[in-house]
Amino acid sequence: MNLLVTAGPTREFLDDVRYLSNLSSGRMGYAVAAAGVAAGHRVVLVSGPTDLPCPPGVERLEVESAEEMHAALKARWAWAEALIMAAAVADYRPAVRLPGKLKKGPRESLALELVRTRDILAELSQDKGNRILLGFALETDGLMAEASRKLGQKNLDAVLANSLENLGAENASGSLLMPDGKVERWTNLPKAEFGKRLVTAVEGIRKGRAKA
Ligand code: CTP
Repeated sequence: MNLLVTAGPTREFLDDVRYLSNLSSGRMGYAVAAAGVAAGHRVVLVSGPTDLPCPPGVERLEVESAEEMHAALKARWAWAEALIMAAAVADYRPAVRLPGKLKKGPRESLALELVRTRDILAELSQDKGNRILLGFALETDGLMAEASRKLGQKNLDAVLANSLENLGAENASGSLLMPDGKVERWTNLPKAEFGKRLVTAVEGIRKGRAKA
């Protein structure tokens, strides 16, 4: 299968040296990409900035902002049969990116105007075709309810509900929700194992469709 995977944070610049970002290390997405290759799939990894080496056999496209991530995914959309969207995409970016480095100036406070980034997964799902889409939901409150809302609203085939403790950590816990209401709970597993299970889940959805 032709598998697109996203990983890591995005950076949304306010001038040429400063940006807004988040704590994502990229480990989850990289583990998924490595598991995809190990299972015999062709994998393109669209990665935000991380310190991680590209897993052998994976084609990596490096991006910084949500806009660049969207463009890279669009460029490979015709090729893709499945997308696992593990990236922690910023929801807002500074309204303007100033050239050079913003000077401190005399003001004691400064308001930063933010505008919404596009919801990449929601947009791609408008042109879903036969592709399998697996999204992530990271929440501090009402995790399962929000995850199931995202499953429906973004027209996903599965969503991995997980909480803040997973960010940047070695191990992870989470629940995989499916549209038929099935839930698999995975607790305190190395991210490599998580990656394998997510790839297996996508393979299972694919087999189920082929039978139907
Ligand atoms: N996502 C995306 N584009 C964005 C934000 C998120 O494609 N601009 C994707 C993430 O990669 C993830 C899923 O959407 O697979 C859910 O991300 P999450 O941050 O949990 O939720 P949001 O959809 O941003 O919603 P909210 O902030 O309201 O919880």
